[in-house]
Amino acid sequence: MTERSATSVPAGRDASLRDRLRHALAWLSKHSPVRRPGWMRGPAVPDGVRSPTIATERLVLRPHRLRDAAAWYALQSDPEVLRYLAWPPRSRLRSFKHLIDRTHHVDLLRKDDFLALAVMLDGKLIGDVSMHFRATELPDRQFEIGWIIATDQQGHGYARESADGMLGLAFDRMRAKRVIAKIWSQNEASRVLATRLGFVEISNSDDERVMALDVDGYRASHGRGRS
Ligand SMILES: CC(C)(COP(=O)(O)OP(=O)(O)OC[C@H]1O[C@@H](n2cnc3c(N)ncnc32)[C@H](O)[C@@H]1OP(=O)(O)O)[C@@H](O)C(=O)NCCC(=O)NCCS
Repeated sequence: MTERSATSVPAGRDASLRDRLRHALAWLSKHSPVRRPGWMRGPAVPDGVRSPTIATERLVLRPHRLRDAAAWYALQSDPEVLRYLAWPPRSRLRSFKHLIDRTHHVDLLRKDDFLALAVMLDGKLIGDVSMHFRATELPDRQFEIGWIIATDQQGHGYARESADGMLGLAFDRMRAKRVIAKIWSQNEASRVLATRLGFVEISNSDDERVMALDVDGYRASHGRGRS
């Protein structure tokens, strides 16, 4: 079946309302930039996570809270942080709305679910680590990870430690086969971080490289043997 025949509305009077609705939804889900609501993204996986909190050696990774609005705004106002992110500069109000959105991104249950955790050091927000649920089916389960650390806290290994916490969630708890990271070509700090975490480059275009860490690589780099 071609893409066109899969998504175009059936012609003729016989097409029932239900068919038309189904095709309209299929078209929307394929072409809309907006994430579809959960019920349109298939069933929840049985081993999904809701609102996880992850403690690492020095950090706590936990769902975002509105009380961190000042620190979140400071993070988003820093041009060094924004340089390689597809984030626009945001006013204090827009930053607050963005944080409200983030407080809702707490589950990894369905395809395209997005989990964003605040990186907390001694009770202070210093960054954000996130994962998109890109492929839910075992054994090809895949996530996409992202990381941000406030400029004045960089270089202490916090990005590595928080990413490691998320990778544990992906591989140990949710049986991921692969985690990828999409990194702007110029973003050397991110490339180095990904490499230290065991990621290898799998594609490279003019402006973006994609790096991947497979479960075997993760187990090898964490001394846990094969699963
Ligand atoms: C990418 C980022 C999270 C790295 O944070 P960080 O705090 O420097 O990371 P870490 O301290 O955990 O360092 C990880 C490794 O990268 C190295 N590194 C950090 N900055 C580097 C740089 N500019 N150039 C080369 N290596 C760098 C560190 O030396 C460290 O290596 P080590 O483990 O051998 O010591 C941070 O630069 C950042 O938040 N950037 C802005 C947001 C961003 O671009 N996010 C990524 C989107 S893909």
